[in-house]
Amino acid sequence: MALAPMLDVTDAAMRQMVIRHGKPDVMFTEFVSTDGLCSPGQHKLVGDLSYEDNEHPIVAQVYGKNPDKFYLSAPLIQKLGFDGIDINMGCPVKNVTKTGSGAALIKTPHLAKEIITATREGAPDLPVSVKTRIGYNSIVIDEWVSHLLETEPAAITLHLRTCKEMSDAPAHWDKVGVAVDLAADTDTLIIGNGDVTSLEQAHQLATDTGVDGVMIGRGIYGNPWFFDPARPYEEITVEEKLDAIVEHAEQFVESFGAAKNFVAIRKHLRAYASGFRGSKELRIRLVEETNSVDDVRRIVEDFRVKTRTDPPCFD
Ligand SMILES: Cc1cc2nc3c(=O)[nH]c(=O)nc-3n(C[C@H](O)[C@H](O)[C@H](O)COP(=O)(O)O)c2cc1C
Repeated sequence: MALAPMLDVTDAAMRQMVIRHGKPDVMFTEFVSTDGLCSPGQHKLVGDLSYEDNEHPIVAQVYGKNPDKFYLSAPLIQKLGFDGIDINMGCPVKNVTKTGSGAALIKTPHLAKEIITATREGAPDLPVSVKTRIGYNSIVIDEWVSHLLETEPAAITLHLRTCKEMSDAPAHWDKVGVAVDLAADTDTLIIGNGDVTSLEQAHQLATDTGVDGVMIGRGIYGNPWFFDPARPYEEITVEEKLDAIVEHAEQFVESFGAAKNFVAIRKHLRAYASGFRGSKELRIRLVEETNSVDDVRRIVEDFRVKTRTDPPCFD
């Protein structure tokens, strides 16, 4: 079970929340640019890659399109103590694809393979993996995964949509078996990703499709308990959600200090405030009125006081 790389979501603070409430088998960082890692602004990106000792095994995710930059970034990542390097070949964002990076690499398999090889040469002791989609405009999982397997990556994570589908169409879990079969006699692990909303569902998909692992992204919004088999989301109490709101805000400040604007955490806070009486009003206040941990504490305390005589329950 893997925690997905998600820019501005699975940051160091969110990862600490996940570790405390239900640690997955492996976590991935938000992606960072290999161009940036090879630039004078390198220190800023190295900051984005910071992690705590308790996060191992942790994999650094990078993107770019120049094999030389991957070759130069890889030893740096190795020196930072990461357990692996993952190459993003799935990002559909225009700013990334228009440079030939991210999902655009699906259209240039020769370059994609050069990048994997260069990364491995730069950090021979680290496993190198790829996270990608199953096609650019249409599904080409057979052809694309065959190309990737030629380079013997440690793992291929398949976000089971095409680039064109963005996040709109349902993930094509019915297609992942093609990759599982292609990788059957290799050492490459196949990890499936897309639309998984519970740990139970993840295990069921692994059983049904034969994937070696399942990666979870948006499912962890407001649910750092996701990976704990003993804590299905339906059983998380309102009190636990309220505590998590304050805990996450405190962790955000501990992880980033003033380096990250506090508003970046609001999307997380709002995600906890869901599914119980009064949660909508609480959500609105958390999104509109929070600029510090004190604001968060005050709003949560107000909610507790207000609901003391009429305790919140699940709607
Ligand atoms: C806000 C956001 C940021 C993301 N950032 C990254 C990223 O940095 N690297 C990456 O490979 N995928 C990124 N993704 C894609 C996710 O890792 C994942 O593949 C996708 O959300 C589908 O999985 P899910 O349905 O479990 O969320 C991002 C997705 C979202 C919604």
